[in-house]
Amino acid sequence: MTRESLPLVFAAGAVSAAIATVFAYRWKLNSSETECVEMVFLLSAMKLIINLPQWLVSLYNTNKDREFSTDDEMISMAVAIASQNVSEGSGGPFGCAIFERDIQTGKATIFSVGANRVVPLTNSTLHAEMIAIQFAQKKLKNFSMKGAKEGKEYVLCTSCEPCCMCLGGTMWSGVSELICSAAKDDAEKIGFIEGPVFPESYKQLEEMGMKVKREVKRKEGAAVLEKYGQTGVIYNG
Ligand SMILES: *[C@@H]1O[C@H](CO)[C@@H](O)[C@H](O)[C@H]1NC(C)=O
Ligand SMILES: *[C@@H]1O[C@H](CO)[C@@H](O)[C@H](O)[C@H]1NC(C)=O
Ligand SMILES: *[C@@H]1O[C@H](CO)[C@@H](O)[C@H](O)[C@H]1NC(C)=O
Ligand SMILES: [Zn+2]
Repeated sequence: MTRESLPLVFAAGAVSAAIATVFAYRWKLNSSETECVEMVFLLSAMKLIINLPQWLVSLYNTNKDREFSTDDEMISMAVAIASQNVSEGSGGPFGCAIFERDIQTGKATIFSVGANRVVPLTNSTLHAEMIAIQFAQKKLKNFSMKGAKEGKEYVLCTSCEPCCMCLGGTMWSGVSELICSAAKDDAEKIGFIEGPVFPESYKQLEEMGMKVKREVKRKEGAAVLEKYGQTGVIYNG
C-alpha cells in the first residue's frame, strides 16, 4: 500500500477486542466452544480499508502545494470533487476537502479529501466528510484536529450541508470552521434524506467555538446535485 493511495487502515484492535469479548461471552452461553473460538478469530483478523478512487488521489496530488486564501477557492475544491465523482461514476454527488490553515497568515493548503463511497463500498458510513475527517486524523495521528499542530487550524469544506451523521462527525473532529456549498434542501429536492439537522444544530456548533458558513457558492453545489438527480442512484440508509 503506497502513501499515494492514501490508504486508511484500521487494525480494529480495541474495538474488535471489546466486541469479541461480548460475543465470546454470549456465544459461550448459547453455543459451542468451537463456534465461540471461530468468532473471536474472525473479529481479531478484522481490518477496514477505505480506498479512494484514483482520480481523487491525482486531484489531491495536483493541488497539494497550491495556496488557498479565500472561502470561495476552498469550497470550489469540495464542489469539484463532488462533480468529478459524478462524471467518473465513482460514488454519490458529494465531495469534501479539509484545509490546513495558518492561523497567522490565513493561508491554507489542502490537507485531506473525501468523496462519497457508500454504494461502491457497500457501507452507509462512507460519506465524503467522514472519509476526509478520517484521513486527516490519520495524518495528524490525533483524534482531534483542534490544537493538533501549533499555529494551524482546520477548515472542513463540503459540497453540501452535512447529514446528521456528518454533522456529528464534524462536531467531534476538532475542525475550527465548517463551510458548506449546497443547502440541505437541494439534496432533499432530489430525494436524499439528511436526517435530523436543524438550525439549532448549527447554533450548537457555533457555541462550541466552530465557525459555520453556509450557502457559499450554493448554486455550484446545487448544480452538481441537480445533474446527479437526473440519472444517479438515490440511496438512503
Ligand atoms: C462519484 O460518483 C459515482 C457515480 O455517480 C459514485 O459511484 C461514486 O461513489 C462517487 N464518488 C464519490 C467520491 O462521491
Ligand atoms: C463497509 O461495509 C462493508 C460491508 O458492509 C465491508 O465489507 C467494509 O469492510 C466496510 N468498511 C469499509 C471501510 O469498507
Ligand atoms: C492531540 O491533540 C491534543 C490537542 O488537542 C494534544 O493535547 C494531544 O497531545 C495530541 N495527541 C497526540 C497523540 O499527539
Ligand atoms: Zn453525511
